[in-house]
Amino acid sequence: MCGIVGYIGKREAYPIILEGLKRLEYRGYDSAGIALYDGENLKLSKTKGKVADLENKITKEISLNGSVGIGHTRWATHGVPNDVNSHPHYSNSGDLVIIHNGIIENYASIKEELIKRGYSFSSDTDTEVLINLIEDVKKNEKVKLGKAVQIALNQVVGAYAIAVFDKNKPDEIVVAKLGSPLAIGVGDNEFFIASDATPFLEYTKKAIYLEDEEMAIVRLKKGIKIRKIKDDSLVAPYIQELQLNLEQIVKGGYDHFMLKEIHEQPEAIKDTYRGRLNVKEGLIRMAGIDDNLEHILNANRIIVIACGTSWHAGLVAEYIFEDLARIPVEVEYASEFRYRNPIITEKDVVIAISQSGETADTLAAIKLAKSKGAFVFGVCNVVGSSIARETHAGAYTHAGPEIGVASTKAFTTQITVLTLIALKLAKEKGTISKSDFQLHLQELQLIPDKVKKALLQDEHIKTVAKIYKDAKNCLYLGRGFNFPVALEGALKLKEISYIHAEGYPAAEMKHGPIALIDEQMPVFVIATKRGHYEKVVSNVQEIKSRKGKIIGIVTEGDKDVKNLADHVIEVPETLESLTPLLTTIPLQLLSYHIAVMLEKNVDQPRNLAKSVTVE
Ligand code: G6P
Repeated sequence: MCGIVGYIGKREAYPIILEGLKRLEYRGYDSAGIALYDGENLKLSKTKGKVADLENKITKEISLNGSVGIGHTRWATHGVPNDVNSHPHYSNSGDLVIIHNGIIENYASIKEELIKRGYSFSSDTDTEVLINLIEDVKKNEKVKLGKAVQIALNQVVGAYAIAVFDKNKPDEIVVAKLGSPLAIGVGDNEFFIASDATPFLEYTKKAIYLEDEEMAIVRLKKGIKIRKIKDDSLVAPYIQELQLNLEQIVKGGYDHFMLKEIHEQPEAIKDTYRGRLNVKEGLIRMAGIDDNLEHILNANRIIVIACGTSWHAGLVAEYIFEDLARIPVEVEYASEFRYRNPIITEKDVVIAISQSGETADTLAAIKLAKSKGAFVFGVCNVVGSSIARETHAGAYTHAGPEIGVASTKAFTTQITVLTLIALKLAKEKGTISKSDFQLHLQELQLIPDKVKKALLQDEHIKTVAKIYKDAKNCLYLGRGFNFPVALEGALKLKEISYIHAEGYPAAEMKHGPIALIDEQMPVFVIATKRGHYEKVVSNVQEIKSRKGKIIGIVTEGDKDVKNLADHVIEVPETLESLTPLLTTIPLQLLSYHIAVMLEKNVDQPRNLAKSVTVE
C-alpha cells in the first residue's frame, strides 16, 4: 500500500505534494513525510501519523521552498509506524532520498552485506536498505543514478513503486515499478509522479502508467525515458488522456467520503449499466463479453477470485450466475486460491473482481490462472489499473473514484456488472425465458430510483444506530442472495466502528451463533419478501424466543417480521436476484452512523488501507 507523490518543474513543489498526499491517504495513513530540494539544500520532514500531522510539524522543521520534491503516506509493513520508519529515507551520504510503496523481501540479506561494508541504518525498514544499496552500486560501479537504480533493482526480490532523487543531479527523478502502481503526469516541462492520477488532475490530464519491471528517468528539459529494468531496452512512452475530474475526488458537501459514496450509488449504478442495458430493444451489450462469447459460454465453470468486499460481490454473483445462467460457479479468496495448487484448466473462465485493480493477491491469482490456460475476465473500477491490464478482457464498473476505505458503491456496481453478465449469458444459453429476461432488464433499470428510496430511510436508520451503537457484538443473518449481504453488512460494521460482527446464513444460526444470543445481542436480519421469506421469519422467531434484539431489513409493507422485530428498516420491492442492491444500503448507512456516533475515523479506519498491494 502506501501512497507516493513527486514533482519536478517550475512550480513550488510543497503544495502539490502535500495536497497529493491528502488525496492518496486512502492508501495508508500510519505516517507521512516530504523531502524538498531548493536548488542548494535537500530538506526532509516526516512524522508518525497523518498528513495533517505532517502539515503541522513541517513548517517548524524546514523551509518549504523548492521546485523538486517527493512525499509519502505510509501503511506500515516493516517496522512500527514511528517517525524514524517514516519515508522518505536518506542514503548514508545524505545525497540520495527515496520513497517506496511495496516490500523488498530479501532486504535482510542485503542489509547484512551493506553493514559489512560499513553502512549503518537508523530505521527498521526495507526501504532504507534499498536506498543504500543504490548508493553502494552508484559508488562502486561509478554509474549515474538511473543505472544504479536499475542494477540495484535487479538484485532485489519483492514489489515496489519507487521515486529516487539525487541532490547532485537535481534536474531528474528516477522512478520504477514492479507490483505497485506508478503514474507519471506529463505537463509542460514539469512532471508529476504519483500512485494514481488524483494528485495531478488539476495540472495535467496526460498520464503515463508504468508497466511492471519498467523504470523511467524523468528529466527537466529532456523529458521521460522509459526502460525495461531487466534488459535495459527502451520503451516508447504511451501517454493516456485522463477522464477523471477534480469534482469526483472531493467530498462535495458531505462530512465523509463514505457518506458521499453511499449517496452516489443511484448515479453510479446508472453509470454502470449506461450504454449496456437497452430495455427497449431487450438487449445487453458488453464488449468484453460479446468479443469472447463462445469462450465464456463453453466454460465448464466460472471461478470468481477476489478479496474483501469484492469477494462478497463474487458470492452474490455465484447465486445470480447459477440461478439465471445455470453455470457452475466457485468463489475463492484470491489469497487462498493462489497458494493451494488449485485445479485450473483451459475450460475454466476466471472472473477477477477488484475495485482498485491493484490488490496483490488478486493479481497473483490472475497470473496463476493465466499460466494454466484459463481465460481471465476482470471486473474493476479503476481504469487502467494493473488487474484491468493483466486480464484477457473485462468490464469496468464506472463507479467513479471510491476514496472511503470501506467499500460501498464499488460493491453495488460490481453486482450490477455481474448481473448484466449473468443475464446476457442466460439469454445466450436459453436458460431464461424471454419474458423473464425482459422483466429483469426493466427491474434493473428501476434499481437506481429504488436505491434513492432506500436512502430516504437515513434518519430512521440513524435512530436505530443510536440504540445499538454501544453493542459489543452483532450478528447479521441472510439467506440465498442476501447471505453475502449479511457478510458485507458485518464487514462494514467491523471495518469502521471496530464492533465485532459476524455474518451468517440465517439457517446456520442454529449450528453455533444461536448460543451467543441474549438480550445484549443485536441481530440484523435481512428478511425481504420472496426467496425463503417464511423460513427467515421462523429464524426471527427463534431469535425472539432467546430475547435477542431484532432489526429486520424488510420489504416495504412487511407485516410478519414487523410484528416480531424490535425495529424494521424498509427497502422497496424488487426481483429476488436484485434485492442485494437494495438491502445493502441500510446496512452501509447503519455502520456509517454508528462509526460517526462512536467518533471513529470513518474514511480512514485504523490499520486498514484501500489498496492492498502487499500479500
Ligand atoms: C481492502 C479494502 C476493501 C476491499 C479489499 C479488496 O481490504 O479496504 O474495501 O474490499 O481491499 O480490494 P479490491 O480493490 O481488490 O476490491
